[in-house]
Amino acid sequence: MALSDAQSCVPQHIAIIMDGNGRWAKKRGLPRTAGHSAGAEAFRRIANYCRTLGVKYLTVYAFSTENWKRSEAEVSGIMRLLASYLKEALRDMEKNHVRFRFFGDLSRLSPKLQKMCLDAQERSSEYHEVQVNFCLNYGGRDEIIRAIRAYANDVAEGRKQADDLDETVFEEYLDSAGVPDPELVIRPSGEMRLSNFLPWQTVYSEFVFMDVLWPDFGPAELDEAIAEFRRRNRRFGGA
Ligand code: FPP
Repeated sequence: MALSDAQSCVPQHIAIIMDGNGRWAKKRGLPRTAGHSAGAEAFRRIANYCRTLGVKYLTVYAFSTENWKRSEAEVSGIMRLLASYLKEALRDMEKNHVRFRFFGDLSRLSPKLQKMCLDAQERSSEYHEVQVNFCLNYGGRDEIIRAIRAYANDVAEGRKQADDLDETVFEEYLDSAGVPDPELVIRPSGEMRLSNFLPWQTVYSEFVFMDVLWPDFGPAELDEAIAEFRRRNRRFGGA
């Protein structure tokens, strides 16, 4: 099979802010949860397509530390979608070979959802086809504060020295420990903000903002974002 243009040079790590579900639903006179349901479908399509393309890491912003401010009905709708996706992922694990990691403070999730996340993480730890990192109750500032606390704790207990802290050591304390930084961050829906998504990890990422709403995002849109990424002259501060 001939490789498409996007396949011939793919970023190894793509991160996506899955935005626009609410507007997608509103345009159709549907409840916001219907937008999230369509967003979960878009995620399935994109995770499969990333596997086809050979993308190694896909990180998605599924629920932020700020999203708790939404109505109870919307929050529980998103949690239900996540639980149903994880149930399906746990069932199909041996077929799909997707590895799962979870970034964020899972302790605020229901015990049942926490268990599903930990099971998925543990049971998929040997798979290497594509790794999906779900950001769940995730905030970049919260991640950094939790990392600082953990390091301070190690200093207090004599396992580390304050002066030994450098960028490499600090990264081991982040939720993303061991995962290379995303080369490409995509935000659909026309918004052009980072919204507390991976602030440490994206300092040299390329950002592609697109007008499409997340539920309408499919392989063609991912191809377009990758093509835009390939046109960029990536620079890391050197001459
Ligand atoms: C942002 O759109 C989206 C979210 C806050 C939730 C994202 C969740 C999903 C896509 C479903 C999760 C499930 C799986 C399986 C990935 P928005 O609601 O802020 O949209 P708006 O800006 O148009 O209101």
